Amino acid sequence: MIGDIVPRSPTDRLVRDFTKKDKEREFDAELVSQVVGMSRAFIARALGRPNTRPKTYTLRDVLDLLDVDGFQETFVPRSKIPKYLLEDSLAPPSELPALRQSTRTIGDVELRVGNARDLLPRLAAGSVQCVTTSSPYWGMRVYENERSVTWADGETCPYGFEQTPEGFIRHTIELLVLLKPAITKTGSVWWNIMDTYNTRTPIRGNARERLDAMGEKPGSRKGWTEHAACRHSAGHMYLDDTELSSVPPRIAERASRVGYKLKSFITWRKHTSPPEPVKSRVSRQAEYVLHLSVNRTPFFDKAAWLKLESRLGGPNMLRESAERITDVWYLPTASGKNGHGAEFPLALAGRCIALTTKPGELVLDPFVGSGTTAVAAVELGRPCIGFDISEAYIEVAESRVRSATHQPQLDEGSDDVGAQLSARKPAATG
Ligand SMILES: C[S@@+](CC[C@H](N)C(=O)[O-])C[C@H]1O[C@@H](n2cnc3c(N)ncnc32)[C@H](O)[C@@H]1O
Repeated sequence: MIGDIVPRSPTDRLVRDFTKKDKEREFDAELVSQVVGMSRAFIARALGRPNTRPKTYTLRDVLDLLDVDGFQETFVPRSKIPKYLLEDSLAPPSELPALRQSTRTIGDVELRVGNARDLLPRLAAGSVQCVTTSSPYWGMRVYENERSVTWADGETCPYGFEQTPEGFIRHTIELLVLLKPAITKTGSVWWNIMDTYNTRTPIRGNARERLDAMGEKPGSRKGWTEHAACRHSAGHMYLDDTELSSVPPRIAERASRVGYKLKSFITWRKHTSPPEPVKSRVSRQAEYVLHLSVNRTPFFDKAAWLKLESRLGGPNMLRESAERITDVWYLPTASGKNGHGAEFPLALAGRCIALTTKPGELVLDPFVGSGTTAVAAVELGRPCIGFDISEAYIEVAESRVRSATHQPQLDEGSDDVGAQLSARKPAATG
């Protein structure tokens, strides 16, 4: 059962009383670089050993780095880094136990039911050319089959249901760290993300539910705490009630600190946006897409974008230049007819895939939901792997992919899978 979100920032402190043996323990240099948020070259300088590039650092080195001005948390909070390194860091992929997972294969598309945190480290190294995804956003939605995940920072919660925005940012960065070895040298990651206001609010299942609630008759409204899942606003170390949490730019900076190259911070200017009952600020009409790569010059094919149909993300002739692709994308929102409630448009997925893959190269969506990325990959002739923690959403995705590949549906019933899903188990709780 999902509970409330109360963004009460912890006040933990770093302790340093480790045994001499623990202080001399060595850890992989790449992992250390990712937990302290510093490049290997900077670490060498900060430790006073310029021009060295050791394969490991000791815990003593790490404790020293935690005092350097340039330190910034990435996916483990400062006070928990020694424990994480000594006890909790992940085994190398070759030593991970096999997972029992349900996989559906439709032509070149594989859909796996499971938790992205478990599945990402099991991807073959250097196998994915392009990741196109939209993760859950912080504290906004209750999804179908919401399930708890245990994270490197010690928190156990569904992704998107962290007690603080910092927790959500850490978990996103942990997933990006687990994903990185699977990306090819020329590969790209396109990560769609939205910000959250630090407000008191009931958390709902989808936009329809939110609109219905706003239309409730005066006098019949529930008090906000009577909803099954609520987000409170008091207790954060600095965010006041009604302030924007700045989640997307903070993810962008930390992605860079764990070794990704931040290529672009794209504004997706949506054609429409839900009404917001606000008087002291502007309404929102944008979401963001981070374009990350693992090397400075990822594969990037503007010519392919120019030839693309607008349905699949080609130039929007009314709003975008036909010659130049910029960091403002004018794309529609998804129709929502697949019953997921948080779908992104086919045009967004198609644009990202066409720009950064060649036909036949593997696309991944670790939060595939209703399968939009997989459908775009099929239409563009790319194989695709999709994960989702919800079996019900994987069923929706499977049905859409079967239609896109002209393969017969397994379920002979209604082809309105969105209606089937909503009828079977409403995602909403609030
Ligand atoms: C924003 S939606 C993705 C929607 C998708 N882009 C589409 O067009 O339908 C995020 C998805 O992440 C899934 N999810 C949440 N936590 C997850 C986890 N730990 N591992 C894998 N999937 C997860 C949810 O079930 C949800 O379908």
